Amino acid sequence: MTQLTIGIAKGRLQADALQLLAAIGASPAAHDLSSRRLAVEDQTGSYRFLFVKPADVAIYVEHGIADCGIVGRDVLLESAADVLEPLDLPIGRCRMVVAASANRPPNGHGMLKVATKYPRIATQHFGAHGQPVEIIQLSGSVELAAVLGLADCIVDLVETGRTLRENGLEVTEEIFSSTARLIVNRASYQLKAEGMMKLIDALKTAARAGGKAND
Ligand code: PRP
Repeated sequence: MTQLTIGIAKGRLQADALQLLAAIGASPAAHDLSSRRLAVEDQTGSYRFLFVKPADVAIYVEHGIADCGIVGRDVLLESAADVLEPLDLPIGRCRMVVAASANRPPNGHGMLKVATKYPRIATQHFGAHGQPVEIIQLSGSVELAAVLGLADCIVDLVETGRTLRENGLEVTEEIFSSTARLIVNRASYQLKAEGMMKLIDALKTAARAGGKAND
């Protein structure tokens, strides 16, 4: 039997990804889930799950350590990894936006300071609009940069909108909407074709039953 290794983004996507996988009968044992183990198998041995930081899922898949992975489109676009993307999943729905303080004074000097965890997406977005920017790369709590004046605006994810709202920021532009994707290693797609097709078809059916992702 060929085992498939699935990289799962830890954090806000993890519970929904595991629920989707459970719906197709691919579940780690409860004691493994409550442990701190980062690589666990399902009860049948058909699947192995790797729990990694969202930005690292595509790296494991691109290098073939994981055959496939579940990760947000936002992280995928930022990583520009060379992986296949056969399936849009109806989980992890959010928007990538430009946001700024509601009472921000106009930026008078042309060069916009943009704070973000997504430098590549931000650079591409403003580049496409011919807007010169200075990108300030942060690791988290990006909203604070716009609140305290480290940056004129931020490029960040919005899910419920609560973080923006509670920090006095507002969306000035939507860059794209995002859901989670199943990504697949190019070689695994060929070499483990049978298991991979089975997984993709099962996830497709479960995704349809759980609601269709629109994008
Ligand atoms: C993400 C994102 C926003 C927040 C949006 O951050 O960067 O800060 O969630 O969610 P909301 O619209 O539901 O309020 P995350 O929670 O991943 O933490 P981080 O800022 O430390 O990266």
